[in-house]
Amino acid sequence: MFKKYYKLTNILIPIETASGEKRVSATPGAVKKLKGLGCEVFVESSAGELSGFNDTSYQESGGEIVSKSNEGIWKKADVVFCVQTPSEKNLEKLQKGAILLGLLDPHGNEKLRDTIISKKISALSMELLPRISRAQSSDVLSSQANIAGYKAVLLAASELDRYFPMLMTAAGTVQPAKVVVLGGGVAGLQAVATAKRLGAIVFVSDIRPAVKEQVESLGARFIELPEIDEKPGELGGYAKAVTPEFLSKQKATLTKYLSEADVAICTAQVLGKKAPVLIDSPMLEKMRSGSVVIDLAVSQGGNCEGTKSNETIIKDGIKLIGAGELPSSVPYDASSLYAKNLTSLITPFIKDGVIKLDKEDELISGCLLSDEGVVLQNKVFEN
Ligand code: NAI
Repeated sequence: MFKKYYKLTNILIPIETASGEKRVSATPGAVKKLKGLGCEVFVESSAGELSGFNDTSYQESGGEIVSKSNEGIWKKADVVFCVQTPSEKNLEKLQKGAILLGLLDPHGNEKLRDTIISKKISALSMELLPRISRAQSSDVLSSQANIAGYKAVLLAASELDRYFPMLMTAAGTVQPAKVVVLGGGVAGLQAVATAKRLGAIVFVSDIRPAVKEQVESLGARFIELPEIDEKPGELGGYAKAVTPEFLSKQKATLTKYLSEADVAICTAQVLGKKAPVLIDSPMLEKMRSGSVVIDLAVSQGGNCEGTKSNETIIKDGIKLIGAGELPSSVPYDASSLYAKNLTSLITPFIKDGVIKLDKEDELISGCLLSDEGVVLQNKVFEN
C-alpha cells in the first residue's frame, strides 16, 4: 500500500486530435501496468475507440474515464502520453513541469519550442531516442515503420494493374511483379519481406553496405552502390547524407531498375534531414504506365518528386501515392506496440506511484527536449 503523503503521479491518456490519427497512446494493458506501479491513470472518454479499445476495457484495467470536456484534467496531469502533439489549446492548460511524452515532431518546429518554454514543460520526443540495443523495446520509430513497410506493399498490390505472384494456370501464365524498394532500413526490410511473401521479385537500393546481406537473406536482390571513392557513413544506427555526386550516380543506376519495375516503395531517410530525392521526373518518365510508387518518406519531402501527403496523383498513368499515415491504418496493433514502447521507456523511472526521470540516463537524455521549459536540444528545433 502507498502511504498517504505521496502525491501519486497523474497520467493522462488523451484523445488524439491530429487529423487522420486513429492510434491511442496507451492500451488497457499499458494502463494496468501503470496502475500496478501506483500511478493514477485518466483516460479521455473514447480515446481508444478508433483503435479497438473501449472505455469499459480501460475501466476494467483501473483507468478512470474522464469526459473530454473536463478541462481540469489537463491542469492536474503530471504526465501526458500522446501519439502526436496535443492541440495548442490543451498544452496551454498544462501545469509547470508536466511531462509530455510522444511523437512530438520537433524538427524545425519553433511553435512547439515556444510552447514548451512558455508552459515550462518537460518534453520527451520519442523520435530522438538513440538507436542503441537498450532502447529497442522503446523504439517507436521502428515499431511504426515496420507497420508502414508492410502496409505500403499491401497498398501497392491493391493499386497495381497486375498480380504480384507468378501464376501458372491452364488458362495462361502471369509473370511476377517487379518491386524496387528504396531504403533498406526498418520499413524497407518489412516491405521486402511482405513483397516476397506475395511472390514479387524484389530489388533494394541502400547506401549502407551492411544492408546487402540483410536484403539477400530475405531473398531479394541488392542494387550495387555506384562505383565512386566516397563511402557512405553511418551515425547512431542512421545513414549519413551522401554528396550530390553520389546521389546523381545512384540515380543513374536506379533508372534502369525503375524502367523495368511495376512498383517502387520509397523508404530512404537520413534522420533529421530532408529525404533524398531518388526518383525525379525524367526517371518517372521511364517507368511504365500503370506502375505504382508508394512514398513513405513524403512527410520529409519525399523520395519521389511530385508526391503529396495522403494524396494519389496520376502522372502519365503512374500512380504516385504519398502514404503519410500508414501505422494509423492498422490502429490496433500500431497502438499496442506504441503503448508498449512508451511504458517500457518510462516505467523504470516510476517507484511507488511517483515518477522521477533520471536525466543522466542515456535514453532519457537522448529524447529529453526540455526540462521544465529549459530547452536542452536547441539544434533539433533549427533543423
Ligand atoms: P531507417 O532509418 O530505418 O531506414 C532508412 C534507410 O534509408 C536506411 O537504411 C538508410 O541507409 C537508407 N538511405 C538513406 N539515404 C539513402 C539513399 N540515398 N539511397 C538509398 N537508401 C538510403 O528508417 P525507417 O524507420 O525505415 O523509416 C523510413 C521512412 O519511412 C522514413 O522517412 C520514415 O519517416 C517513414 N515512415 C513513414 C510512415 C508512414 O506512414 N508514411 C510510418 C513510419 C515511417
